Amino acid sequence: MEITFWLERWSNNQTGFHQQKINPYLMYFYGEKGPAVEQREKLKVFVPLCGKSKDMLWLSQNRYRVFGVECSDLAVKGFFEENALNYKYAEKGQHALYQSSDLPSQIEIFQGDFFELQASDLEDVTDIFDRASLVALPVEMRQSYADKMAELQKPGVRTLLVTLTFDHTEMNGPPFSVTEDEVNALYANNFSVQKLLFKDVIEEEHGLRNRGLTSLVETVYKLVRK
Ligand SMILES: C[S@@+](CC[C@H](N)C(=O)[O-])C[C@H]1O[C@@H](n2cnc3c(N)ncnc32)[C@H](O)[C@@H]1O
Repeated sequence: MEITFWLERWSNNQTGFHQQKINPYLMYFYGEKGPAVEQREKLKVFVPLCGKSKDMLWLSQNRYRVFGVECSDLAVKGFFEENALNYKYAEKGQHALYQSSDLPSQIEIFQGDFFELQASDLEDVTDIFDRASLVALPVEMRQSYADKMAELQKPGVRTLLVTLTFDHTEMNGPPFSVTEDEVNALYANNFSVQKLLFKDVIEEEHGLRNRGLTSLVETVYKLVRK
């Protein structure tokens, strides 16, 4: 999926992937199961291909610093404006950097191409939340995405990765089906890969059912950069 595809989706308001609810796995693993509140200010969570995800709001309200990357300026401005956050804007190399310090922890979003990020941009990132990001990319882009992720991260950085698995003959992506075998093939060289849980979600996913899916499993992994 080229960037022009996504820019068009945003300008046509075709953003069915955007959720009003906070992701339950994020709240579980970074909330009740996560580090104590007083330790969170030391942590910075990278949200790749972040859209205008409310998960970033939750992370900041829960004392995690947030760093997102998103190609669409409509999405980035939408995030700050819809959540009534003041923001500053600056040019940074190929990207535009938006920053808000209204909430307990700072939120920064780079508006530009994920594949142009440098390791120095993720210098102090400790954690990554990948929901609807890997699975937004077609199979021919996923190895480059996983390799770029490895290039950007220091050893020890943790990722919470949420994937979807379904019969890909039932629906054209995005989102795309990503199997456990593929997750291992993409990441196992550079990351330890732990499957945390999986859940049958077909009943809850009305939009994807309407697009033709008859079964759908969400799987959550913890990756740690070796
Ligand atoms: C399926 S959406 C998911 C958004 C977000 N993760 C969420 O949970 O709502 C994928 C997002 O990635 C953005 N995107 C796609 N390719 C990108 C790239 N190469 N660099 C930066 N953003 C990109 C799109 O504009 C879109 O907002």
